[in-house]
Amino acid sequence: MFLRCMECGQQFPATSVQTRCDCGGLLDVVLDITEPISTSTFDQRLCSLNPLDRSGVWRFRELLPTIPTEAIVTKPEGNTNLYENGELARWAGVDRLVLKHEGENPTGSFKDRGMTVATSHAKWVGARMVACASTGNTSASVAAYAALAGIPSIVFIPEGKISAAKLGQTIAYGAQIVQVHGDFDAAMTLVQQACAAHDIYLLNSINAFRLEGQKTIFYDLLQQLEWRVPDWIVMPGGNLGNTSAIGRAMTDLSSAGILTKTPRLAVIQAAGAAPFYEAFVSGFRSYEPVEASTVASAIRIGDPVSYTRARRTIEQTNGVVEAVTDDELLDAKAMIDRAGIGCEPASAASLAGLRKLVHAGTIPASSFVAGYLTGHLMKDADVVMEYHLGSGSEHRPLANRPVVIDPTLDALEGVLRRAV
Ligand code: F0G
Repeated sequence: MFLRCMECGQQFPATSVQTRCDCGGLLDVVLDITEPISTSTFDQRLCSLNPLDRSGVWRFRELLPTIPTEAIVTKPEGNTNLYENGELARWAGVDRLVLKHEGENPTGSFKDRGMTVATSHAKWVGARMVACASTGNTSASVAAYAALAGIPSIVFIPEGKISAAKLGQTIAYGAQIVQVHGDFDAAMTLVQQACAAHDIYLLNSINAFRLEGQKTIFYDLLQQLEWRVPDWIVMPGGNLGNTSAIGRAMTDLSSAGILTKTPRLAVIQAAGAAPFYEAFVSGFRSYEPVEASTVASAIRIGDPVSYTRARRTIEQTNGVVEAVTDDELLDAKAMIDRAGIGCEPASAASLAGLRKLVHAGTIPASSFVAGYLTGHLMKDADVVMEYHLGSGSEHRPLANRPVVIDPTLDALEGVLRRAV
């Protein structure tokens, strides 16, 4: 196992804490997968009580970095549910849709999968402090895993721009919080400078070990599908770590002889924060950072750090990138929520984008599609309240507006008649 620059090929030992090559390129963890691995290796562990087997990340350890067991920090994470809902499939316009709910991870987002691997790496190499910039979910996850590992953490967040629930989680888990005047991209620049200047371990998804953990969303998904591969995978894209991770997952599963075909990937951005989408439309001939603006604060990112790795994944999977408006995203969220599944706004980009791509004829209606839901419904209650009760909600067919009545059965009667 070693780290390799995706631009110039320079190699670094696995214990290196460098997140970029000397040439500025992004790094990949290169694993030593030389022999076929049987899926039964992973299936047998489903009924094991070994803490590593019970993690939906470490159960797949032959496809992950080798880290000494005593350094592994796990809650455990993963093992998230897969939801199949006919009404949502019909709304999106496809024959079969399964939704992998990563909001069911211990801190409520997919970040925990990356964090167990990268925090374990940090512990292994003796990091004295860990850090990240965040739109809220990474910071909650960093704070929790750092606390478990007994390593102090410092997180950089754009002041006033992350949800109260995410800020509350991060405060509660005990991270030192630094609120930065500016947006996520400014916080991301600052954290990279701070880590380089002060020998702090960087836990953002620019860190290749984070992506190693996030690969397991795809492993876990395939295992739940009894290793049947969907035609398409649809996921939201912000800083583009997850997009990069699924590309790595497909490469490693192919090396292990497990992947029978490569699913096509659709990455969905919010229209007001869509530099990756714009680059895709240009055939990846140009890339321009943007000033990000969207209701989905988790993906309010204008200059994604994993751009080059994510571009590679789109090319590798013959993938596509789409952008959805906030209204499209919020209606998709309302559909997911009222199906009893629920997710945070950024996650709903998956369903909104799928619907758009089916209507455009890019994704055939006969497809078997798996969508990633990346965060929990309760991560952003403010957006829920604004959609259902805020200004303009009376014109939204999906708005669920509470009524106020006198405490009498007579008053209740009218409500019940309408509700039934
Ligand atoms: N969905 C949610 C709920 C997220 O929190 C994020 C990213 C994404 C999607 C986008 O994933 O960055 O891998 O493309 N949140 C980060 C954070 C940036 O700081 O919590 P990505």
